[in-house]
Amino acid sequence: MDWLKTFLNSSIGKKFLMALTGSFLIIFLIIHLIGNITLFFGPEAFNGYVKKLASIKPLIRVIEVVLFSAFLLHIFNGVRLWIENKKARPVEYKINGSDKNSSIFSRTMFVSGSIVFIFLVLHLGTFFWRFNIHDPMNLASQHKYYEIVTHFFSYWWYVLVYVIAMILLGFHLNHGFQSAFQTFGLNNKKYTPFIKKLGTIYAIIMAVGFASMPIYFFLIGGAK
Ligand code: HEM
Repeated sequence: MDWLKTFLNSSIGKKFLMALTGSFLIIFLIIHLIGNITLFFGPEAFNGYVKKLASIKPLIRVIEVVLFSAFLLHIFNGVRLWIENKKARPVEYKINGSDKNSSIFSRTMFVSGSIVFIFLVLHLGTFFWRFNIHDPMNLASQHKYYEIVTHFFSYWWYVLVYVIAMILLGFHLNHGFQSAFQTFGLNNKKYTPFIKKLGTIYAIIMAVGFASMPIYFFLIGGAK
């Protein structure tokens, strides 16, 4: 196992782990967005969807363990790479125009990732916690999942946090998507422009898709 340790501590190993965990999270977000779209079809559709997930709990628990491990590895490794980059280059190069060689999306990966992380703590603390662990509103036990989500989306500050976080999630995904392909060695003159466009389309769909839910329920009044 020494070779694995050496690999994961090398620069390419760390980048590889970022790309691997990032790709897993990219797929998770597509599934999560598709599932959450049932919110737009009313309480029956969304509550039915959550109950269906609950009926396959053992499988969902396994997926959640893999998912949370991927998130933790992605964050831990991302912070490690950021610290190493800072140590190697404490002052940004302005002379050769580093901001011309890199995009605003790649330069803000640490900031966008950190804000998405803060969002995730808030998000899990409200929905995941209430749906699975703690239930002060006593709604989850009555399977009123739709009511819980739309209730939170009736608070302006909660909606604002979501919208800001989703814009930054879009920034993070726009660079992360193409960067993962590059790390896996899938970059050449022919495919790179296509991968970049696909990454941008993916990032926009995720940001707009996830932000549309809090905005919609806030505008129609949510469930009081
Ligand atoms: C408006 C947008 C969103 C809504 C309405 C939403 C809704 C939910 C709900 C209801 C749960 C609890 C599911 C359950 O325990 O059965 C959940 C869990 C979760 N959400 Fe979200 N979510 C949104 C956006 C996001 C985003 C953008 C991310 C990631 C950056 C995310 C990551 C997670 C994770 C990791 C879990 C725990 C795993 C799971 O139970 O599926 N969510 N979300």
